[in-house]
Amino acid sequence: MKYSFNKKIIAITGAANGIGRAASILLAKEGATIIAIDKDKKSLNKLQTKLKKNCVLKNINCTDIDDINKNLKNIKNIDGLVNCAGIVPQGDLMNCSIQDWDETIKTNLTSVFFVTQYFMKLFLKKNKGTIVNISSVASSIKGVKRRFAYSASKAGIIGLTKSIAADYSKKGIRCNVICPGTVDTPTWRKRVLTSNNPSQARKDFNSRQIIGRVAKPEEISDLILFLLSDRSSFVTGSVYNIDGGMSL
Ligand SMILES: NC(=O)c1ccc[n+]([C@@H]2O[C@H](COP(=O)([O-])OP(=O)(O)OC[C@H]3O[C@@H](n4cnc5c(N)ncnc54)[C@H](O)[C@@H]3O)[C@@H](O)[C@H]2O)c1
Repeated sequence: MKYSFNKKIIAITGAANGIGRAASILLAKEGATIIAIDKDKKSLNKLQTKLKKNCVLKNINCTDIDDINKNLKNIKNIDGLVNCAGIVPQGDLMNCSIQDWDETIKTNLTSVFFVTQYFMKLFLKKNKGTIVNISSVASSIKGVKRRFAYSASKAGIIGLTKSIAADYSKKGIRCNVICPGTVDTPTWRKRVLTSNNPSQARKDFNSRQIIGRVAKPEEISDLILFLLSDRSSFVTGSVYNIDGGMSL
């Protein structure tokens, strides 16, 4: 069976960079129209140059419910949603400020609640839809050092995914979650370059995966494509580690 995304409309948050950008490019290549949602306007414009007419830009801050309601109201139909927008703050319990905690939960978890609730109304109108959430191995899957607030937010996404699957799968709406290991994206490169010893940091990141390297964003988007497509029609509420063996 071939993938069929012709005439499908897929909304992707965090579409402007990294994993979300790679997923947008792959899905557009397969025939989908992308509703590209991101707060980074400059990078969204670059995505549009690449995708041309297969892309509708939505410069939205996903933590802002009013921004979501105002800027998505002309979207009347979608087939799939990928919740990919996120941040990767570092630090342990004792150096996590209330501001760090609030910002992380708001950006990584509350935004998924806002955006999914918004689009669920459209899915429920036709009793069909697929949702793919992006969590992380650093979550309820595995304890990773200095990822305190981040891991809490990403564990929340796993719980949220299973709850949505339990409530809506009978209505034709599937919801699954992907937990990547380390992926070579702009924010990951920044983490490496701003560390005390970038060359050692790169080595350490590579060795976290048993495969011995970090993933390319395109290796994550292949799984996103599968979970959005009808080829995964019996899959819901599932948690997919895609981590080069990091969680072993
Ligand atoms: N890169 C990794 O190693 C890795 C590993 C596991 C999970 N993840 C997860 O994958 C997702 C994508 O990460 P990435 O590495 O591609 O990051 P990235 O920084 O390259 O891309 C994230 C995008 O999300 C957007 N964004 C952030 N906050 C937003 C908000 N409030 N509203 C709208 N857009 C917002 C950013 O502008 C950016 O374009 C994140 O949820 C991250 O936690 C990444």
